Amino acid sequence: MNYSDLAPPYIRAIAPYQPGKPISELERELGITGIVKLASNENPLGASPKAVAAARAALDEIALYPDGNGFELKYALSQRYGVPQNHIVLGNGSNDMLELAARAFLTVGDKAVYSDHAFAVYPLATQAVGATGVSVPAINYGHDLKAMLKSAVEHKAKLVFIANPNNPTGTFLSAAALLDFLRALPSNILVVLDEAYNEYLPEENRYDSVAWLKEFPNLIISRTFSKAYGLASLRVGYAFAHGDVADMMNRVRQPFNVNSVAQAAAVAALQDEDFVRQTNELNRRGMAQITGELGRLGLEYIPSFGNFVAFRIANAMVVYRRLLELGVIVRPITSYDMPGWLRVSIGLQIQNDKFLSALKRILGE
Ligand SMILES: Cc1ncc(COP(=O)(O)O)c(C=O)c1O
Repeated sequence: MNYSDLAPPYIRAIAPYQPGKPISELERELGITGIVKLASNENPLGASPKAVAAARAALDEIALYPDGNGFELKYALSQRYGVPQNHIVLGNGSNDMLELAARAFLTVGDKAVYSDHAFAVYPLATQAVGATGVSVPAINYGHDLKAMLKSAVEHKAKLVFIANPNNPTGTFLSAAALLDFLRALPSNILVVLDEAYNEYLPEENRYDSVAWLKEFPNLIISRTFSKAYGLASLRVGYAFAHGDVADMMNRVRQPFNVNSVAQAAAVAALQDEDFVRQTNELNRRGMAQITGELGRLGLEYIPSFGNFVAFRIANAMVVYRRLLELGVIVRPITSYDMPGWLRVSIGLQIQNDKFLSALKRILGE
């Protein structure tokens, strides 16, 4: 008997998410050490020492179930952003937010709209509940909000996923463009605005989406502690939404979806603004270092507002494998319908150096 036949057809149709390989696995496979991983948009500075200390202290209590309501973290978020606690949802990474939104609001026959080249979890979360995803062609690899609006209305979609900045392209939508979109969209269509890389935005591109929640009860803002806060392994993210929307998302989440170590670390991380500033500064310099060199090498790249950049290169998969042999992991983005492209995360200067010298060596071979 083929047990996969027991799953509904829409589950069998899901193409599995391909995570980056851990360093240890590649070192075993290739028989080398000292690999630099610039493949998963992690924070090369690690996490705030205050967050690490809080996580360590929380280990003393791991025999106990975590606070299923996440009071301390919700309190800290509500103080920081001025959002009532019943408008906050906590999740196992912001990935959980995307899934909770899909699980709470979509079912078989419903439609969700997202962009071509947008984050891979939007189609996964949509398909997992038997809903249908509508992928809208991009403009210059970024979201075409006018086309997405048209598509959402025409398809009577229930949900639209928007990534700002988007992964893997790094493209950015201005506050004005987002506001035009939100004002034109019928209010019975929900919008998940995925701001996983929000903290990386340069000062001049910052916008206050949280203030928009008052005007747009159909808006769900999703954020994470995995990226600029450096807590990827602990899995903690959050969403801000209208109380009714947050209530529905909370009903479908696991009662203890955020563990106590993660909650404690996130509270401390939120308070360490200096760490986020240092992260940003390092990223700004590293982005200039990498894109400057890509430009000098004559390689096309997409200007990025995140902590990674996608670049186009002939024989991308050959280059990817050769980079691996030289001890650098980057990310092929063929599954994002960008077969000629690789994505590199911004690392420490020394890691960026290693990537760039390996790349130059490969181009000279
Ligand atoms: C655009 C975007 N959204 C959400 C996520 C989910 O991250 P996490 O679940 O670690 O918060 C990622 C991770 O790569 C991402 O790139």
